[in-house]
Amino acid sequence: MTEDKKILFSGIQPTGNIHIGNYLGALKNWVDLQDKYTAIYSIVDWHALSIDQDPKEYKNRILETAIDLLAIGIDPKKSILFAQSQVTGHTELAWIFNTLMPISELERMTQYKDKAKQNKHNINAGLFNYPVLQAADILLYKAEIVPIGEDQVQHIELANTILRKFNNKYGQYFNPIKPMLTKGARIMSLTKPDKKMSKSLGDNNYISLRDNPDTIKSKVAKAVTDTGPAVADKKSLGVHNLFELLHLFTNNEVVKKYEKQHNDGSIKYSEMKEELAGAIIKTLEPIQKRIKELEKKPKKVEAILKKGANRAQVIANANMEDIRDRIGLLK
Ligand code: TYM
Repeated sequence: MTEDKKILFSGIQPTGNIHIGNYLGALKNWVDLQDKYTAIYSIVDWHALSIDQDPKEYKNRILETAIDLLAIGIDPKKSILFAQSQVTGHTELAWIFNTLMPISELERMTQYKDKAKQNKHNINAGLFNYPVLQAADILLYKAEIVPIGEDQVQHIELANTILRKFNNKYGQYFNPIKPMLTKGARIMSLTKPDKKMSKSLGDNNYISLRDNPDTIKSKVAKAVTDTGPAVADKKSLGVHNLFELLHLFTNNEVVKKYEKQHNDGSIKYSEMKEELAGAIIKTLEPIQKRIKELEKKPKKVEAILKKGANRAQVIANANMEDIRDRIGLLK
């Protein structure tokens, strides 16, 4: 890692079952960007506490997430990988940012509104302040690039608002943040293709990185093709999403074959689904093999996170010292 590379930061919640939406929208990009940037990746365990977590299971969820990230190719020799709660500074900086943020701007956040609807029994202040902590995650490391899926763009815009407020009040310190999106920035649900793929919509709507071949075949076979209004290319939303996946998991030749069949009306969705399922299985096979190997070594995984946290802490401490000084806090 050299000092002149730009700093890149991203995070994922340890809520279990990383799915192909997460993978295509963000995580694959995390792997690809490791050489070009000083990459810092965090398992955001403070964030995920804003929805119910079983304390007996939580540690396993965090380790499981670390295993999945290592298995897809996050390399601790290249990147800093750590659990958010193992570094001090995230919540401190979030508190500072909370004092700059009007409540009205937080009330407009789409993810907050969605999650508040889904968790009516537990609309806690953490859920509300969630994007402020997200801004702190990024700015604690003065990161400028953030690879994410489309659903997180609004949070990055908010982070830019926060940093402008900070710079105005305490003097120019943070540079603007740029979101980085991929071609798969918005993968839709298999069963409700008008909504993004998400664990909260139920098992059949997403494919997990850990799903076995039979489960993948069955979920793809059940994907809806005939509901929802047709989109610009005359495909229903479900069919459009299947073509997107085909594009991301196979090659141009395969996509062209089915495009042609779709245009002349001879397409059999069962055949297309079988080919798509096969391609997903093939992509996930080496990842699942590495997951199995890493699961045998939980202590090693814990040690990787600890070492990552120590490295992240060094950067966080230096920046927090500057920030405290600017605000006028005692040393
Ligand atoms: P999370 O844990 O929900 O998701 C992790 C990443 O996966 C992307 N993603 C998708 N991309 C395409 N299609 C989908 N259907 C899909 N579903 C999820 C998300 O956009 C995300 O990039 N708030 C963040 C975590 C976070 C964070 C941060 C991210 C906390 N602090 C700082 C960046 C920087 C979240 O809930 O991600």
